[in-house]
Amino acid sequence: MSDIRILPDVSAVASAAAEYIVDVCSQAIRDRGVAYLALAGGGTPVAAYTLLSQPEYASRIEWSRLQVFWSDERLVPAHHADSNYRLTAEALLCRVPIPVENIHRMRGELAQAEAAQEYENAMRSILAPDNKGFPCFDLMMVGMGDDGHIASLFPGSPALLERRRWVVATEHSQPPPPLVPRLTLTLPVINAATAVLVIVTGEKKAERMRQVLEGEPADELLPAQLIKPSSGRLLWLLDIPAASRLTTR
Ligand code: 6PG
Repeated sequence: MSDIRILPDVSAVASAAAEYIVDVCSQAIRDRGVAYLALAGGGTPVAAYTLLSQPEYASRIEWSRLQVFWSDERLVPAHHADSNYRLTAEALLCRVPIPVENIHRMRGELAQAEAAQEYENAMRSILAPDNKGFPCFDLMMVGMGDDGHIASLFPGSPALLERRRWVVATEHSQPPPPLVPRLTLTLPVINAATAVLVIVTGEKKAERMRQVLEGEPADELLPAQLIKPSSGRLLWLLDIPAASRLTTR
């Protein structure tokens, strides 16, 4: 089941995202005593993370029962300007009473293959696989790049074909090169989540958003078109600029 909510601006998207995170995580904690959250990288969700650190939101999550992971990371140390961990730690995790042992960082300072295997091992020590062999996050957050990538699954990447591993190494050839080594959760993990939240804002993503949600089926689907939760729900939170090319809204 997927839903597209179009909100006036970035601030409204951040509020809706923060509210959704609280709702999903606090419900999971009420139901099972624990919630598993995979945070998105990039800049878009930072406003939501900052809001989530405010008492009106933070007071509604039992942080000791929240296990936090990431959906992707750049292969850089934790303190590096490009680190998704650093971005989320500064905006959220350093501002809320989450136990350090509940924060599961992808160790971007390691060699790619070692970092991917180590993270998968760490996930497997906490998250039990479902009947298809994949972990079930209560909430999986991803952003979308203007090329239609999600997490660090880029168009045409062999990582899009991975059907066994939970974490793989990828590379993003942002112009100009060099290749930017990354780690990413794989599509089966993303699609095994109970809820997937995709946050997209800004006019520069509007044409890609139209292609993803309304485009003619192409031989090679964009990564964002491959988000199909097997039994979970999918929520797109867009601001008006990002949705400005959609014809059916
Ligand atoms: C990353 C993210 C990536 C991001 C999109 C959107 O590590 O960069 O995981 O997938 O979500 O590129 O990035 P912005 O939110 O900065 O536009």
